[in-house]
Amino acid sequence: MSPAIDRLPPGPRWPAAAVRFAMKHRPLRLFEHGFARYGDVVRYEAPPLRYVVVARPDAVEHVLLRSYRQYDKAVRHPVMMRLMGEGVIMTNGDRWRQQRKALAPAFQPRQLSRLVDGIVETTNEAVEDWRRRDTQEVDVHAELGALTRRVVGRTLFGLRGGETAELGEALDELVVRANLRGDRFWNLGLRYPTPRNRRFFRAIELVDRFVGGLIQERRQGGGGDDVLTALMHAHEDSGLAQLDDTELRDEILNLFFAGFETSASALTWTFLQLSRYPAAVRGIAQEVDRVVGDAPLRFEHLTALEYTGRVLDETMRLYPPIWTNERVAGEDDEIGGYHIPKGTMVAVSTWLLHRNPRLWEHPQRFDPERFLPERSKERSRYAFVPFGVGPRTCVGNHFATMQAKVMLATVVRRLAIDIPLTVPRPTAAITLRPAGPLPGRLRAL
Ligand code: HEM
Repeated sequence: MSPAIDRLPPGPRWPAAAVRFAMKHRPLRLFEHGFARYGDVVRYEAPPLRYVVVARPDAVEHVLLRSYRQYDKAVRHPVMMRLMGEGVIMTNGDRWRQQRKALAPAFQPRQLSRLVDGIVETTNEAVEDWRRRDTQEVDVHAELGALTRRVVGRTLFGLRGGETAELGEALDELVVRANLRGDRFWNLGLRYPTPRNRRFFRAIELVDRFVGGLIQERRQGGGGDDVLTALMHAHEDSGLAQLDDTELRDEILNLFFAGFETSASALTWTFLQLSRYPAAVRGIAQEVDRVVGDAPLRFEHLTALEYTGRVLDETMRLYPPIWTNERVAGEDDEIGGYHIPKGTMVAVSTWLLHRNPRLWEHPQRFDPERFLPERSKERSRYAFVPFGVGPRTCVGNHFATMQAKVMLATVVRRLAIDIPLTVPRPTAAITLRPAGPLPGRLRAL
């Protein structure tokens, strides 16, 4: 297609170095400035990169859904390539379509329901530990991150309490490295034996050995109710070829890195909101009393935890863990009346979209009830996209919602985490996280 329009989107005319600096160090502020000044389709030039940020529902629908074939993902930097291999996050076209098909059976409700007991048990262990540390001051983000890593590690590949400190540190090292935004656009890669690169290789080799060992164990008949086992049997339902060891390694690490940081981010911001809005804690506790009572929490309870779901949605509206979804235009195109030349990187800014005052009344206000069906009727379904939309929407969205609901339902009646009422500055790494530690105090109930 060659659109008649030749007007490029508006945007600041800054030197490339200034654009790069702002993108690397304060992208949220940069995009907020662009939105306020130029509107909901804004262009940033830092040759060879041309970057267009969109924050309107029709553009979201166009890029992520209707014209998705023309907008590929382009994650090509060396760190992510070594980490993620040829997993589902990294591929496009037919290869990616096959991978989605192969993953689907592992995320069916029937499979997910098998994971609930493990999530409850792991969360209960954490609650016991926190209750023993009553009144202690902790870094809330680190504590919830550690819990999420245990839950995701257990549900994805059967990691039990026996997780070695060395493996935990290696996974952390990889997460930190994947989060260095500087690595994403402009980097020297992995060619030079810098201390950071040496740490990276040590960590990835350890994780590869560990995952390789798990796969061999399963091939010899071990395994249980986890996603890795489900993936090894997925071909029985999907009719595709069985995944080989490298494919399994790549998919499981893609799932881990896609699932862990995002879930930890969602949980951290949710506890922050709960600390600020006691009515939300009461609402969740009452709902859990009514729906679950003193019985053990089961998969069947989760749909009825509606208010809990609204609190999660409202938190992810204000603090979307994935704050931007980037694609590269494969052809010349048109968005919002502007010309988008082939090769432009188009970013759906979930951060701006979720706070766009044309879409949300009092966008800065925390109001879970705005997600009640009667208050959502008029809103475009592309105004709220924490899990993306279209064919590349999050594979783990039901898993993530289930996990978060189970964790909240398990924690809120037994423990509070009091976080001072200052608003921590979000920092936009791969996920949106508090800049620096988030101090809070544990309080057993
Ligand atoms: C609150 C938690 C989560 C959030 C907010 C989230 C968000 C997202 C978003 C926005 C995308 C689409 C990115 C794009 O279009 O460029 C995505 C993709 C993906 N997510 Fe999640 N995610 C979460 C949890 C999980 C979990 C728990 C898993 C796995 C167990 C997972 C696995 C994936 C995978 C594999 C993809 C890539 C899909 C593809 O490219 O086809 N996510 N996620």
